[in-house]
Amino acid sequence: MLHTSTTSAFVSRKVKNTVVKNTVVKSILLIPLVIVLLTVSAGFAYVHWSKGGTGAGLYSRHWSPDPVQGYWDPDNFYQSTEIVKGLFKAEQCIQCHEEITPGIVSDWRASRHARSEEPIYCNACHGNDHQQLRLPTPDECGRCHAKQHGEFRDEARHGFPSHVLAMERAVDTKHFADKPKAELQSCVQCHSVATKCDSCHTRHRFDAAEARRSEACITCHSGPPHPDGETYFASAHGKRYLAEGSDWDWSKPLTKGNYKVPTCAYCHMDGGRHQVAHKSLWKFGLREINPHTSQNRVLRENWIELCSDCHDEKQAGQWLTELDRERKSAWRKLYAAEDILKRLRGDNLLRPAAGERPPYPMDWLDSLWPRERIGFFEGQASAFYNVSAIERDYFEMWYFENLGAYKSAAHGNQAGVEAGHRKMAASLDRIKSKSDELRTLKKVRQKAKIKSDLPGAPWAKGAYTDYNREHN
Ligand code: HEC
Ligand code: HEC
Ligand code: HEC
Ligand code: HEC
Ligand code: HEC
Ligand code: HEC
Ligand code: HEC
Ligand code: HEC
Repeated sequence: MLHTSTTSAFVSRKVKNTVVKNTVVKSILLIPLVIVLLTVSAGFAYVHWSKGGTGAGLYSRHWSPDPVQGYWDPDNFYQSTEIVKGLFKAEQCIQCHEEITPGIVSDWRASRHARSEEPIYCNACHGNDHQQLRLPTPDECGRCHAKQHGEFRDEARHGFPSHVLAMERAVDTKHFADKPKAELQSCVQCHSVATKCDSCHTRHRFDAAEARRSEACITCHSGPPHPDGETYFASAHGKRYLAEGSDWDWSKPLTKGNYKVPTCAYCHMDGGRHQVAHKSLWKFGLREINPHTSQNRVLRENWIELCSDCHDEKQAGQWLTELDRERKSAWRKLYAAEDILKRLRGDNLLRPAAGERPPYPMDWLDSLWPRERIGFFEGQASAFYNVSAIERDYFEMWYFENLGAYKSAAHGNQAGVEAGHRKMAASLDRIKSKSDELRTLKKVRQKAKIKSDLPGAPWAKGAYTDYNREHN
């Protein structure tokens, strides 16, 4: 009896030991999992916290919006006017606004909304209570236009750049919290393409015909980093559009056979699809891509299919191959310049050095490990405002001259391709000679045993480098 009980006690101890051992092993295995879980949830909590300030986006705690921003990003910031009091019926809105804002009422009267069988009155978009007016967001339009709204939302899966993510993209840049307010107001005007639907068919006509024309895009798609309007109007397509377009019937959808030359929307929103990012290979043009990956080949096939509404397929393919060739040549120049800068960085010859410039707000990594950012993979464009003169030269080359050459090649403006490459070559020469100067200066100073630091650049202080929190 005793024997058995001892044995069973022994066995049970053994079992217990294995159980304890197993539990210990299991808990050791659990530790990394718990750490990962904690880190991930801390990360989420931090992002959530950082978005909880008076502004919007990752740096919302570092800026607050001017009231006008309510019109660009109504969902986040619009506050109704309280001057007029009362609940009004549709006819009353029109009656009074005929006096107050006659332009709005006559645009509305000319619109499909007014001429529809059951007219869409002012209150359908703005509400009836004049103390709690709404400015319609895309979701609001989506109540009645599910197809366009659905396509618009679905664009998010193509990532940046895209219309649906444009506002996030702007407010999540580091310099959004840091730049002078007057400039930031311009960002949200263009990037509001994400937060309201009146960018291409303007209020209160909401006219599809207007949106089909190229002028609908160029309020935002023009100017140095994205000269889409300039390059299109200088192309064979754009010239013919300018010469004949005013006589065309713009009430027809943008499909094969309806138009002689393509407009922006014909090429980028083919078939009336409310997306612009679904065919992009080179995207904004800020980094080199490989056009021959299987995914990019599919995108390129989609482009060629579109061109073949009017051109021979083979010819269209060749034109787009020329675009890739132009890009390759641009990147040779850009890499040469990056290389020079990286070597200067290696030899500690860039002034002010990264550690001598104020870091971007919340960029704790930058304050722990200051480092000059050179090129796309080291930092987004916003990292290039408070830099040394030679880095600024590279920024101009990369962000303006390169992007101008790219859009010229993409849109068929040959003179623009030539000009872009001429400017890039000149910038590369300038960067080379500035680099030589810095190296010579270093030698001279070493010889003369001058210990003090190299002179600072004009970017060391000023509107772009001082932390602007008080003014934002
Ligand atoms: C008795 C006259 C009157 C009536 C009725 C009226 N409004 Fe207005 N509404 C105004 C005035 C005046 C303003 C300008 C207020 C201001 O300057 O802040 C205005 C401004 C607006 C604005 C712009 C708000 C802004 O923040 O810029 C909207 C939108 C608007 N009204 C919609 C409506 C709608 C919808 C109705 C019907 C439900 C309506 N209004 C009925 C007089 C009227
Ligand atoms: C189909 C939806 C829709 C309808 C219908 C509509 N609006 Fe608007 N309205 C808008 C949008 C979109 C804006 C711009 C919102 C913004 O800037 O964020 C706007 C802006 C306004 C503004 C602000 C001032 C400005 O700069 O344009 C006023 C005033 C206004 N609407 C009045 C009216 C009146 C009056 C009517 C009826 C005759 C009307 N709206 C009908 C969508 C609509
Ligand atoms: C309450 C429903 C409703 C809302 C809200 C609404 N619409 Fe409409 N919309 C219509 C109807 C109905 C038509 C006419 C359709 C027809 O006649 O085939 C129309 C037509 C249109 C057209 C086509 C015009 C043309 O020239 O063919 C556009 C563009 C448009 N709406 C844009 C908008 C935008 C942008 C918003 C949000 C600011 C909006 N709509 C909000 C119901 C609505
Ligand atoms: C209100 C301003 C505005 C208007 C109008 C506008 N866009 Fe855009 N568009 C933008 C912004 C801002 C971005 C970049 C968003 C980002 O950074 O993610 C953009 C991005 C794009 C892209 C880049 C997509 C990619 O993947 O690289 C294309 C293509 C484009 N738009 C085409 C058009 C066309 C075509 C029209 C006219 C039918 C048009 N846009 C009208 C503001 C606008
Ligand atoms: C004139 C209209 C306009 C203004 C003003 C504007 N943007 Fe943009 N932005 C665009 C367009 C259009 C694109 C996309 C171009 C393309 O894809 O070719 C873009 C692209 C971008 C991108 C994506 C490319 C990148 O650099 O990574 C960012 C970020 C951006 N803008 C931020 C800003 C900020 C911040 C401001 C204000 C300082 C601003 N934008 C002002 C129209 C504008
Ligand atoms: C980048 C420019 C652009 C933006 C932003 C835009 N649209 Fe459009 N929209 C167009 C173009 C171009 C057409 C004409 C398409 C065609 O010819 O097939 C159009 C047509 C329409 C039509 C009429 C469709 C038809 O077949 O009659 C509706 C409705 C519409 N858009 C709603 C919206 C809504 C809702 C939003 C916001 C989610 C929006 N649009 C934002 C460019 C735009
Ligand atoms: C003949 C067709 C065509 C027309 C018309 C056209 N584009 Fe493009 N666009 C292209 C092609 C092709 C590219 C390069 C696409 C690639 O390889 O990424 C491009 C590139 C772009 C890009 C960079 C993002 C991207 O998709 O790669 C923007 C933004 C853009 N175009 C806007 C416009 C605007 C705005 C207009 C009118 C002023 C316009 N385009 C007219 C064909 C066209
Ligand atoms: C809706 C019809 C249409 C579409 C779609 C179209 N094109 Fe064109 N394209 C034309 C016409 C017409 C001309 C001749 C214009 C002239 O001679 O004034 C032309 C001229 C050109 C030229 C000038 C060279 C020459 O022989 O005159 C190039 C390059 C070109 N297209 C490239 C493209 C590419 C690439 C695409 C697709 C991304 C495209 N086109 C889409 C109608 C179109």
